[in-house]
Amino acid sequence: MSQLSKDFLWGGAIAANQAEGAYNVGGKGLSLMDIATAGKKGVSRHFTDGIQDHVYYPNHDGVDFYHHYQEDLAMCQEMGFRCFRTSIAWSRIFPHGDEEQPNEEGLKFYDDLFDEMLKKGMQPVVTISHYEMPLYLVKHYGGWANRKLIDFYLHYCEVIFDRYKGKVKYWMTFNEINSVILMPEIAGVLDRSRDDFIERSYQAAHHQFVASSQAVQLGHKIDPNNKIGCMVLTLVQYPLTAKPEDVELAEKAMRMKTFSFSDIQVRGHYPHYVKKHVERLGIHVHMEPNDLEDLKKGCVDFVGFSYYSSSAASSDPNVEKTGGNLSSGVKNPYLETSEWGWQIDAKGLRYILNRFYERYEIPLFIVENGLGYNDQINEHGYIEDDYRIAYLKAHIEEMKKAILDDGVDIIGYTPWGCIDLVSAGTGQMSKRYGFIYVDRDDQGNGTMKRSKKKSFDWYKQVIASDGEKL
Ligand code: BG6
Repeated sequence: MSQLSKDFLWGGAIAANQAEGAYNVGGKGLSLMDIATAGKKGVSRHFTDGIQDHVYYPNHDGVDFYHHYQEDLAMCQEMGFRCFRTSIAWSRIFPHGDEEQPNEEGLKFYDDLFDEMLKKGMQPVVTISHYEMPLYLVKHYGGWANRKLIDFYLHYCEVIFDRYKGKVKYWMTFNEINSVILMPEIAGVLDRSRDDFIERSYQAAHHQFVASSQAVQLGHKIDPNNKIGCMVLTLVQYPLTAKPEDVELAEKAMRMKTFSFSDIQVRGHYPHYVKKHVERLGIHVHMEPNDLEDLKKGCVDFVGFSYYSSSAASSDPNVEKTGGNLSSGVKNPYLETSEWGWQIDAKGLRYILNRFYERYEIPLFIVENGLGYNDQINEHGYIEDDYRIAYLKAHIEEMKKAILDDGVDIIGYTPWGCIDLVSAGTGQMSKRYGFIYVDRDDQGNGTMKRSKKKSFDWYKQVIASDGEKL
């Protein structure tokens, strides 16, 4: 038997800031990503000081999911989606982030969105904060380095848990929470030139851990049916050779970059190796008396994670390097690489699924996976994305082995950017992931018209056959 169970959550994933657009509509306040410029491979995005004339901000329009969601969800329904992952834009609900009263128009938008999903047979899977926060909280409070952010975030959580009770069951507290150390700017910790940059980054991480654990407790109290997970970016690294030094380096990278975050959120305490690491950095992370108790009480219900690629670790400084958005590692000679330098490794998915499950024995949710590719339209106006089908097929095969042969408990699979959207890392539209093409280019031209790629019909048959027909 090679089918998955009928309740396996097949679906797709997007995020508010990369898809919704409508950045100043419906009472929404500016978010951090509204001041992110466009970049490309080799050219980083950066944050400007407020919105400046003559600068192009790709997230302002996204792919206008805000006005197209009915049509988009209808297409996802046609593919047979059983769930749809998106995030709530915090600044639609609290334009500044520190208000007492939420913005009703923002709340109403997500009411309509979640109703539409449910009507179309999809469970909403909601990330509470996906790489964004109200810009006001960055400018006036210094982002997550400030403890006050915990209260603002919890107030936001309370409002959305109350409002969407009975509609949303699956929540994740922070997208790729490990990015707070890898890329602290995402948590509103700016200014790398300051001496205390590293200390502020670790402080921000601590605040997010406490906020997440309190949110889990609150979410369970408001609705005991809620399933609240963490969301971790998995940075799989293998030793480049069997040399013990390489093995040691790879293991260290796995622990520090990936497991340290899920260890805290699943087990509810800082592991020994994190304490030692912070000690070695010589920084002080301030904790309030109840913080450690909170971590214990607010353990997550499942581990959500993204998986795109893997790299290797080597003690030889002269080997060739490669990397993804927040990862850097050594090039693995056995793997192919995408145009953006991400190494393609389907077996790495089964590897990380088993590592997580051995470690925690709680359900896992693959909430991001996919291939960013510069799709070309052929003479019939169609995109034959066989490369994407090959990537997803190989990953689904490995996921199935993890479930059917290894016994790993997986809730669902939501490939990233099921509808083309703005790339988080580069701000490009041309780095596409979708089954659904959106007519929009890197300069902001295009009609936003949606059309099906070849992978659309392929994924439809995958879902309809419960993963049997790949
Ligand atoms: C994940 C993020 O890291 O990777 C997404 O959660 C992001 O927001 C995705 O879009 C793919 O990265 P990129 O840079 O290709 O958009």
